[in-house]
Amino acid sequence: MSDFLWPAGWAGPTPVGGAINRHYLGDEALVVREQLPLARLPEADRNQVIEDAIRLVEHVRRERKGSAGIEAFLQQYDLGSREGVMLMCIAEALLRIPDADTADRLIAEKISSGNWAEHLGEAESMFVNASTWGLMLTGRVVRPAASDVDDPSSLLQRLVARLGEPVVRGAFRQAMRIMGHQFVMGRTIPDAIRRATSADNQRYRYTFDMLGESALTEGNDARYFDAYGTAIHQVKTLVKGGMPPAAWPSISVKLSALHPRYEYARREDVLAKLGPKLEALALESMKAGIAFTVDAEEVDRLELSLELFDRLLRLPALDGWPGLGLAVQSYQKRALDQLRWLGARVDETGRTVNVRLVKGAYWDAEIKRSQERGLPGYPVFTRKPNTDVSFLACARVLLEGSQRLYPQFASHNAHSVAWVMHVARLNGRDYEFQRLHGMGEELYDSLRDPQGQPVPCRVYAPVGSHEDLLPYLVRRLLENGANTSFVNRIVDERVPAAEIVRDPVTEVEGFASIAHPRIPPPPRLFGEERANSMGINLADGTEQAKLAKACRAATDQPWSAAPVVGGKAREGSRRELRNPANRDEVIGEVREADPALLDEAFTLGRRAQLAWERTAPAARADILEAAARAFEERHADLIARCVREAGKTVPDSLAELRQAVDFLRYYAARLRKDFLPLDLPGPTGESNRLEWRGRGVFVCLS
Ligand code: FAD
Ligand code: 2OP
Repeated sequence: MSDFLWPAGWAGPTPVGGAINRHYLGDEALVVREQLPLARLPEADRNQVIEDAIRLVEHVRRERKGSAGIEAFLQQYDLGSREGVMLMCIAEALLRIPDADTADRLIAEKISSGNWAEHLGEAESMFVNASTWGLMLTGRVVRPAASDVDDPSSLLQRLVARLGEPVVRGAFRQAMRIMGHQFVMGRTIPDAIRRATSADNQRYRYTFDMLGESALTEGNDARYFDAYGTAIHQVKTLVKGGMPPAAWPSISVKLSALHPRYEYARREDVLAKLGPKLEALALESMKAGIAFTVDAEEVDRLELSLELFDRLLRLPALDGWPGLGLAVQSYQKRALDQLRWLGARVDETGRTVNVRLVKGAYWDAEIKRSQERGLPGYPVFTRKPNTDVSFLACARVLLEGSQRLYPQFASHNAHSVAWVMHVARLNGRDYEFQRLHGMGEELYDSLRDPQGQPVPCRVYAPVGSHEDLLPYLVRRLLENGANTSFVNRIVDERVPAAEIVRDPVTEVEGFASIAHPRIPPPPRLFGEERANSMGINLADGTEQAKLAKACRAATDQPWSAAPVVGGKAREGSRRELRNPANRDEVIGEVREADPALLDEAFTLGRRAQLAWERTAPAARADILEAAARAFEERHADLIARCVREAGKTVPDSLAELRQAVDFLRYYAARLRKDFLPLDLPGPTGESNRLEWRGRGVFVCLS
């Protein structure tokens, strides 16, 4: 039998996967317990860190007064508000809608349903109010009268009537652009470099990020590749003679921008096409005398990223170059294993690597995606302090581990920063901090090392146009809007400093449940009502290999399909069945029902319906649930059939199977809940009972 099911890329576990996937979707409590000892400090040190962190918070709060206050704005649009959600929707939708007309229609719909009034006059910062109006209409189009402030939706309607929707929609887009400027260092690298070299900014190191990710077409990826190439040559103008490697300017690259299908299922193609591009960019960076960092993206791209990164570690031409860098997300359960893998690889290859430790910018998406995919667990932690503990544990590994890893700590959290400074001082290690452009200035401007020198800090500077900004902006909005986030809490002056710099180790040790009790594991997403359909993590080679083996076993014998009437397989005219994705391949035989058999089926169906009608709803629900179980038990067989008989991809086949299982369980739950006879009021003493009846026999064409 041909192995068409599993293209060459689906090769099973890779050495990288073997090293890092142990806890991919593992037990959160187990992983956190492994990390706690690394994050824990003796009491005196712990208290010192908290004191330092409180001082930092107080400094930031003092300094931020009178600043533009983008954080205040973002806090205003928290995700608990309709407008916050709406902003997300618009940003996300604009991102995915290629044509302007449809995007405009969407904006118009959101404009007419937003309750912007709630936000007006609420916050102290003028910036918030201005931006609120900006979001509605942009201040440029109209200056609202005080009376309008009370009733913005009628104002909006009048405006639309007067100016026309296109103008108002245009204004809305403009507002998005204005917001974007907070987070973008410049439209082009030369613009950004001009800003980076202006007076106050000179004290920072820089890494430039060409906005753009998740290329969708081959044209897209080529455009980003060229943009990175150009950027490398422009960034080199920031290099000064005698600069130590740690201070080199750098570029940060998102690999998803460089391949239109940067996903595990395309491993072979990704390694073949993206590998050489990545090598070319790293070599260019080396020649230009700048550093080069691979950003961390969605978790299911991690293994591929590391395989690609490993190519760079093995590339002889890069030997001795201290410019290579990698971002590591501590919110992943695999973070420590990833660092251990990296530590082993630098020792084996004799290379040095800059490691940017971050918490991770895709948390909401990871949680949602795992639920939607019905995975057995989450790849990321579900409690914020668990991620903080992991950050500290990873920081310790970096500060106390191999000298071949140069630690770079990217955080805007005063406690994380104070902890790192304290432990680095104890270990006498060099390191740098990193912050995002537009965030964290007040935190870093006051930091001094024990010699009174400013602690080195690098700014991550996104560069590009409005069109490419949206995913980045959405991540910043989510991060700042979340009420657990440090930048969100620090602006709320009612929260005492000591409250927002609590030691995460102490917090975690106080949890009754390490995993978040209100974020159920994906299989239990629907609570008591029903189980989520079972998903398979197709980004894990081990899981893939298991599925592949089971599917192959299911395709050992030629298939034979026959009409089943009255519970028995029947005869009929025979026809060969071919794989639509490979017409030469006969996969089995099908027997077709003739009209007489159909008549028999209808007759039996009508008879069966009477019996079904008398079957109690709970018993019917049992049958549906038993079917769901049977589907799941035979998942490999059914997936193999979807692939071979319908020519579907494996992920599509899995999705189809899961949909069927979800339907079965959903209707079973509805049966149990909605189909019980209902006693209605009897106003004149009569009894009234509502019962549901089946409608009869259905013909279903699948
Ligand atoms: P905190 O407020 O202390 O932490 C917020 C973070 O906690 C969230 O972002 C999330 O990671 C985590 N979190 C929130 N809620 C929960 C929860 N319920 N359970 C578990 N965890 C939770 N991110 C990337 O993904 N890839 C990159 O390459 C990358 N590069 C960066 C470079 C720089 C210079 C900087 C400053 C950041 C970068 N980031 C990157 C973004 C970074 O991940 C976020 O800015 C960061 O997570 C915010 O952390 P914090 O310590 O500033 O804030
Ligand atoms: C992001 O793009 C900063 O890499 C991080 O969100």
